[in-house]
Amino acid sequence: MALGIKRSAILCKVLESRLGLNFTLFGRKNLHFPSIFNMPIKCGDKLPSVDLYENTPATKVNIAEMTAGKKVIIFGVPGAFTPGCSKSHLPGYVSDFEKFKSKGIDEIVCVSVNDPFVMAAWGKDQNADGKVRMLADTNGAFAKATDLEKDLSETLGSVRCQRFSMMVEDGVVKALNVEPDGTGLTCSLSNNILTQL
Ligand code: BEZ
Repeated sequence: MALGIKRSAILCKVLESRLGLNFTLFGRKNLHFPSIFNMPIKCGDKLPSVDLYENTPATKVNIAEMTAGKKVIIFGVPGAFTPGCSKSHLPGYVSDFEKFKSKGIDEIVCVSVNDPFVMAAWGKDQNADGKVRMLADTNGAFAKATDLEKDLSETLGSVRCQRFSMMVEDGVVKALNVEPDGTGLTCSLSNNILTQL
């Protein structure tokens, strides 16, 4: 039975991506099933309902709930305090905050597989307070659910998240840029997604 459901789901997804069809599965459209399909999230998909953490492990932020009824920029980085993330990626979003606001963006969120204390300290160090929310994907659940994981065990000690940017409107991905090599600093930078709004 479970195998039959899995096979039908795979068939729907393959037909969907190859033929541009949009199937309804279990009465719900545009759901993302990375644990079954191992396919990265794409434009048109709903964000998974995953809890992230802000400042402390006691403050849960459910990313699907947080984006409901809003336009939100989410960008993911391989790690807090790493050179590329600290010198280029996060600073771009902090300095472009007003430009995003003028284009109707309600919130900007930075996500990394780090603990919430590290993310909070990194945000303070980067003067991100009030501009970019620093959300910890503590156990990598968001990276896994979106199939944007990247094994950086050798350099950063664990599986992290690929570098990406996305614009999410009312919980649905409307623009998505994933770095081709997972860690580069090209399409996921702030100036690129600004041109896509
Ligand atoms: C960086 O500088 O952003 C970086 C360093 C090591 C691994 C991944 C990213």
